[in-house]
Amino acid sequence: MQIVASGNPLAQIEADVFIIPLFKDAATATGLLAHLDEATDGQVASVLASGEADSRSGHSLMLHTPSLNTKRLLFYGAGDGVAASALDWQRLAGAAIRQLDSPLFKTVAFLLPPPLDNAAAVKALVEGALMGDMEGNLYHTAKEPARQIETLTLVSQSANAERFESVINEATVMAEAANFARHLGFEPGNEITPTTLAEQAQVMAEREGLLCEIFGEDEMKQLGMGALLAVSRGSEEPARFIILKHEPAEADASELIALVGKGITFDSGGISIKPAQAMEEMKYDMGGGAAVIGAMQIIARLKPNVRVMGLIAAAENLPSGRAYKPGDVVRSLSGKTIEVINTDAEGRVVLSDALTYAVNQGATQIVDAATLTGACVVALGDVRAALYGSDEKLIADLQQAGDECGERLWAMPLDSEYGGMIKSDIADVRNSGGRVAGSITAAMFLKSFAGNVPWAHLDIAGTAWFEDEKPYLAKGATGFGARLMAHFVLNQAKAARQK
Ligand code: BES
Ligand code: MN
Ligand code: ZN
Repeated sequence: MQIVASGNPLAQIEADVFIIPLFKDAATATGLLAHLDEATDGQVASVLASGEADSRSGHSLMLHTPSLNTKRLLFYGAGDGVAASALDWQRLAGAAIRQLDSPLFKTVAFLLPPPLDNAAAVKALVEGALMGDMEGNLYHTAKEPARQIETLTLVSQSANAERFESVINEATVMAEAANFARHLGFEPGNEITPTTLAEQAQVMAEREGLLCEIFGEDEMKQLGMGALLAVSRGSEEPARFIILKHEPAEADASELIALVGKGITFDSGGISIKPAQAMEEMKYDMGGGAAVIGAMQIIARLKPNVRVMGLIAAAENLPSGRAYKPGDVVRSLSGKTIEVINTDAEGRVVLSDALTYAVNQGATQIVDAATLTGACVVALGDVRAALYGSDEKLIADLQQAGDECGERLWAMPLDSEYGGMIKSDIADVRNSGGRVAGSITAAMFLKSFAGNVPWAHLDIAGTAWFEDEKPYLAKGATGFGARLMAHFVLNQAKAARQK
């Protein structure tokens, strides 16, 4: 879907369908609707007067308009427009696009009445439209596409609508990367293995101009990544450690942001095997890694002037005669020993080595994203991701980035008492603190591997996957975290410039 801006008069807009967001108390007498009403000989006023089209969100009415260059008008309920956020506009556009469930609509126009007539709203609408358009049915062989929209024209009547071009570009970059991350999440575990995840990252890096390095198991052994290797032992699929680097020549060499992702391409639980119920969903246990790959694609394209390193610890967690077992003690890259209580708490184990690697590389800020705990799903559902961190400014910056892009976070506590729950009798730390405060003790475990570097952790177990379809998004992988981490990095670069 190609997205363009147009400032042409409404009656000249050509499209198979022209979406008209209807806000509460929309009147035809004034503003944009008056123009359309004129061009349709009063049809718009009569539809509004009939009460059949209204502003309740999700309500819609299609009107055939042979007298216009746009063959149809789709009145789309947009709510009251009061105190709306980026997320509201993403949802508005996503739902309006998903409403067009026919390949008939090749060209779509979308009217931007106030309060949509500004750069921030346009950015959100573009992201929502592109993400809403994507479906997860990758392997339907006889598929009739739900939609085949070729162009989406955003129609603004305010002076020089072309000014939206750069924001359309930025939003397209954001949405394409989020959809790439979603694609990786939708792919089944037999397609996306640690090896193919690394290949996908490498292809992206070469295309976009990032440096990419992939460690195989030999390199991991040499380095001493005993934690990542332990989780991977039960699988025939070899582990991969993926390194992506954005290194602008002019960037401050003393700053390095590390984005770290959990890349478990399938999590069966291992010897502490999961129940069969919904185990198939554990193909998205690489959602954190996919988000990092997506964020790095955005960073490659938008080129913030700051050094960024993306690190993904990729492995498959399976039971076998070689698998790591409860009671095993493994030695991590940091030198710290980990007692394995539960092989299903594998995410924190693989991340421990990735965090140490980031610290050793000189990271000055670390943000990790992981589908880490079922406890996080219980606490926050699919609405907000849990945010943990060791640094107030980093926490605040991530919250701000989340609000800007509609990926909302909720700050959680890390009191030292929680650390007591992961003390081990035999080793430095144990990988499970039991059911109580499960998302917090997992974060506490990660914290101990970040050293003194400002660090934050996003538990995206609930937000990375939608169990059901939403009006604005297909069910399944959401790409949560890709746009958020990229926004965070872009904001850091902007702040540095202003210093
Ligand atoms: N990948 C899971 C967490 C998860 C659960 C993500 C549901 C998305 C939806 C993780 O590896 C896991 O199994 N965590 C365990 C930890 C426990 C054994 C301490 C959990 O949350 O049950
Ligand atoms: Mn697990
Ligand atoms: Zn897992």
